[in-house]
Amino acid sequence: MTQSIHARYEAAHDDGRPLLGGHRGNPAEFPENTLGSFRSAIAAGCDLIECDVHLSSDGRLMVIHDHTLERTTDGTGLVRDHTAAELRKLDAGNGERIPLLQEVVELALGKVGLVIEIKQVPIQYPGLEEKLVAMLRQLGAVQECAVVSFYHPSIKLLREMEPSLQLGILEGARPIDPARLLREAGADVYSPHWGAMDPSLVKEIHAAGGAVGVWTVDDEMAVAWCKLCRPDSIFTNRPVEIGAALRSWPVPA
Ligand code: G3P
Ligand code: CA
Repeated sequence: MTQSIHARYEAAHDDGRPLLGGHRGNPAEFPENTLGSFRSAIAAGCDLIECDVHLSSDGRLMVIHDHTLERTTDGTGLVRDHTAAELRKLDAGNGERIPLLQEVVELALGKVGLVIEIKQVPIQYPGLEEKLVAMLRQLGAVQECAVVSFYHPSIKLLREMEPSLQLGILEGARPIDPARLLREAGADVYSPHWGAMDPSLVKEIHAAGGAVGVWTVDDEMAVAWCKLCRPDSIFTNRPVEIGAALRSWPVPA
């Protein structure tokens, strides 16, 4: 069923349970950021899948986490120094290829919300935001996708380009005034590491009209902390196990 990502967040809020997000798909069982990993996360019942995006040397949006190729493929060097055709020849694990973002959008449409992290630090990709918005519009995917980044200037730029796109700022620390960061970037979702979340942060973001999405919730302690803080979405590398834990939560009255 086609559902906007905003509607998914509203329904989860009404239901009293956070959305389940497959971080890089289901990397506990398949090579991260591959179509196999995303398909597996969808089959595991995820509401959202998350992927990481870079630009190839010929300007294609490619789904891979690191700026370098060594950890997840049989290639070497920087992603940005290779054409899409060169990147597509590499083995991204179990014979999988590095996906084009377009393939992941097409896989997600009508099934799950897609959270696209743009990797603009430390290497910058000028023009990435324009290419991304153009692709999402062309595929009719603006309402079913969100874009997040540690590089908040990109989020601010995207807000100016496409007012209806869900946007999120990623944060590793606990700032003094998280709601101010949300407002300054024009973002909808404040997305910290779970250990940088506390109950007052969730209250402050909700009072500012935002949602909280945490990563990467992979163990019992992280789940217990989320149960106490009540974020709106939870991204995990272990969607099968963490999804089962979330479904057993008592729903708040
Ligand atoms: O969704 C946020 C999270 O993915 C950020 O960290 O390094 O896993 O991309 P990283
Ligand atoms: Ca990411």
